[in-house]
Amino acid sequence: VVNDAFGHPQSVVVLGGTSDIGRAIVGRLVGLRCRTVVLAARDPARLAAAADEAAAAGATAVATVHLDATEPGSARDTVAEAFKAAGGPVDMVLVTVGLLGEPERDERDPDRVGELVTVNFTWPAVAMAEAVERLRAQGSGRLVVLSTVAGVRVRRANFLYGSAKAGLDAMTWGWSEVLRDAPDAAVAVQLVRPGFVHSKMTTGLRPAPFATTPDAVADAVVRGIERGESVTWVPGVLRWAFAVLRLLPPSLWRRLPG
Ligand SMILES: NC(=O)c1ccc[n+]([C@@H]2O[C@H](COP(=O)([O-])OP(=O)(O)OC[C@H]3O[C@@H](n4cnc5c(N)ncnc54)[C@H](OP(=O)(O)O)[C@@H]3O)[C@@H](O)[C@H]2O)c1
Repeated sequence: VVNDAFGHPQSVVVLGGTSDIGRAIVGRLVGLRCRTVVLAARDPARLAAAADEAAAAGATAVATVHLDATEPGSARDTVAEAFKAAGGPVDMVLVTVGLLGEPERDERDPDRVGELVTVNFTWPAVAMAEAVERLRAQGSGRLVVLSTVAGVRVRRANFLYGSAKAGLDAMTWGWSEVLRDAPDAAVAVQLVRPGFVHSKMTTGLRPAPFATTPDAVADAVVRGIERGESVTWVPGVLRWAFAVLRLLPPSLWRRLPG
């Protein structure tokens, strides 16, 4: 594997390649000489636009793969196809697929509850397990997973999304524990916990305190790679804020803004 001396990947697979945060991270990585970019997503037009963007930034091998996160049975094949499309070792797998939904509508619709859990947790869980197997077989690589502070302590306002992300967050932590001790491979896991990010997911929503941008998340992820971080909070102050917030009694927690 050809990570450079700072650990910057030279090939990346993005599961959720049309994500605003994912695109910002790819932009940074390509700027740091990542040359192979494989983007997996559901919408062909947005996927083509994201691929063009990566190529314009300087990626020399750009491929796209179809991803339907409502079908966990497709996750292994999607990951397999993405690794094949990379045409060589994959230095980094980035998991950015996610769905915020519309809380007040979704909580009255059991089918949508299922969809939120599937897209935010079940599909990524299967995909991560497949990706970890493949990274282990390569002997090295990095798994970077977009969690959220909404999963660190669940709030009434977005508890369906938050509880599915809590599962994803916990599972990612579990993988980092497994891989920390794995004798067979040097696979790193980076769990990313942003607060509110201005992206197409949050368009029209009132920003929470410490709201940030996809570019700021991308900078934090790259710094985390350079420092070998296992958990990256964005902005960093949220690490300390949540050290306190997760201990607040429910009567106070439910009254906080955002
Ligand atoms: N924005 C925030 O405030 C925030 C904060 C913390 C963490 N995060 C997490 O960061 C990640 C990226 O979010 P973002 O802000 O960049 O939002 P985004 O642009 O909406 O990205 C979400 C990604 O998931 C994909 N997706 C959703 N449902 C799918 C489905 N059924 N099948 C296939 N793909 C599907 C989207 O595809 P389309 O492009 O086709 O919609 C897109 O690629 C997510 O995991 C999110 O939970 C976001």
